[in-house]
Amino acid sequence: MNFPKIKQITCIGAGYVGGPTMAVIAQKCPEINVTVVDINEARIAAWNDENLENLPIYEPGLRSVIAEARGRNLFFSTDIESAIKNAQIIFISVNTPTKTYGKGKGMAADLKYIELCARQIAKVATEDKIVVEKSTLPVKTAQAIKSILDNVGNGVKFQILSNPEFLAEGTAINDLHFADRVLIGGDYLTEDGKAAMNALTEIYSHWIPKEKIIHTNVWSSELSKLTANAFLAQRVSSINSISVLCEETGADAEEVAKAIGSDSRIGDKFLKVSVGFGGSCFQKDILNLVYICRSLNLHDVADYWEHVIKMNDHQKHRFAEKIINTLYNTVSGKKITFLGWAFKKDTNDTRESAAIYVAWELLMDNAEIHVFDPKVTKSQMIKDLNYLAEQNLEFLSIKDQLLSKLVVHTDPYAAMKEAHAIAVLTEWDEFRTYDWERVYNNMIKPAFVFDGRNILNAKQLFQLGFRVFQIGKKLN
Ligand SMILES: NC(=O)c1ccc[n+]([C@@H]2O[C@H](COP(=O)([O-])OP(=O)(O)OC[C@H]3O[C@@H](n4cnc5c(N)ncnc54)[C@H](O)[C@@H]3O)[C@@H](O)[C@H]2O)c1
Repeated sequence: MNFPKIKQITCIGAGYVGGPTMAVIAQKCPEINVTVVDINEARIAAWNDENLENLPIYEPGLRSVIAEARGRNLFFSTDIESAIKNAQIIFISVNTPTKTYGKGKGMAADLKYIELCARQIAKVATEDKIVVEKSTLPVKTAQAIKSILDNVGNGVKFQILSNPEFLAEGTAINDLHFADRVLIGGDYLTEDGKAAMNALTEIYSHWIPKEKIIHTNVWSSELSKLTANAFLAQRVSSINSISVLCEETGADAEEVAKAIGSDSRIGDKFLKVSVGFGGSCFQKDILNLVYICRSLNLHDVADYWEHVIKMNDHQKHRFAEKIINTLYNTVSGKKITFLGWAFKKDTNDTRESAAIYVAWELLMDNAEIHVFDPKVTKSQMIKDLNYLAEQNLEFLSIKDQLLSKLVVHTDPYAAMKEAHAIAVLTEWDEFRTYDWERVYNNMIKPAFVFDGRNILNAKQLFQLGFRVFQIGKKLN
């Protein structure tokens, strides 16, 4: 197998991973053309929008990278076939959501989009190619991709590499520029496999120091991505489990986190208590890990990881329950204002956001939910609640009635005016700097704040007259 010099890279999937990752590759490798393709025409049009405010995803630093590379050597297109044909390397960066039907429903990763990509590459390719799994995939998926490519193809040869992405939304550009490591899994026991791994290494070497580029076999690479997300989520669930204990005993979860985090064996990252983790990856990837373990009859291992999710569900439920209990056991007809809907700050991504679940529980208790988020649109919030309702058939009949009690604001002060309570669901920086005295004066008394991210100055709010609840602390 002979790989010519890499002149053209194609990425299938222009989402939160494909868009920023390819933008940075194009920025750092000006001699290589990078084309990002997607079946979603509206998304591609937004990536091509002259006005950089209209890019389909919000990510700090992304606009300037796009401004530098787009039209020079970075292109967004819906012409998938040509982009496949012309590329020496094809990244697959499509979504791999949890299955919502059939075998593995609610647990396994849905690989239908991956399979479609593999079949399309096989159909179109007329020259040898390197296919890179950028999406997060269950261990051994590369085997399935290879089998499709080899059996459906036109006799051309493919090398499959696993190159999982470790960026975090909200800091994606920084994470890509200064990656802790780049992981490349390939068939390093064969010459062709080694050549493919070297070709991909060469691209990253434009800006990543060689010692940070790790080579493993394909299965280690696939499993490392699931394991990394499982470990990160486990830390959040672990400290959140302690937060419950703190609220009961008078210990302070932040003090505990600081005390244990200063032990260098533990470290201080990912020890922030909260209303629970969200995002498209943690839950999906752990469920997938659990599913793989169960498929292999490793039930004790599966149970261990499943509890990370259960603890997270408990944390979201507990937060909603705390609001209801504190507001005299009913929120019926009460205005509850959510500050934030995104799953974390500095992104417009709402997938699996804790806000969706907390809102749903309060709507079920007849609350009126008013929301302000600096980057999330009303249509996205409605889509999120609709999606949740569709997963639970018993909700479908009451869905429209509940959604009629969702009010979305573009002015935070209007959102909080005459509210019975405010709940902070996302840690956007601007929430810290609001005029809280003005907010207090305009609220129904007693004025409650439920800070699900522990970002507000509780002492100051208490002095203004608020009753303040923060995670892992006693109610002030
Ligand atoms: N979002 C993250 O922070 C993150 C981080 C690391 C890894 N990942 C993984 O990366 C993968 C992609 O995640 P994402 O957040 O970018 O998803 P996304 O939903 O934002 O984007 C996926 C895109 O793929 C497109 N697509 C699907 N099938 C296609 C096809 N056959 N042809 C062309 N386009 C197609 C969709 O239209 C969509 O625009 C997932 O496996 C995810 O687990 C995500």
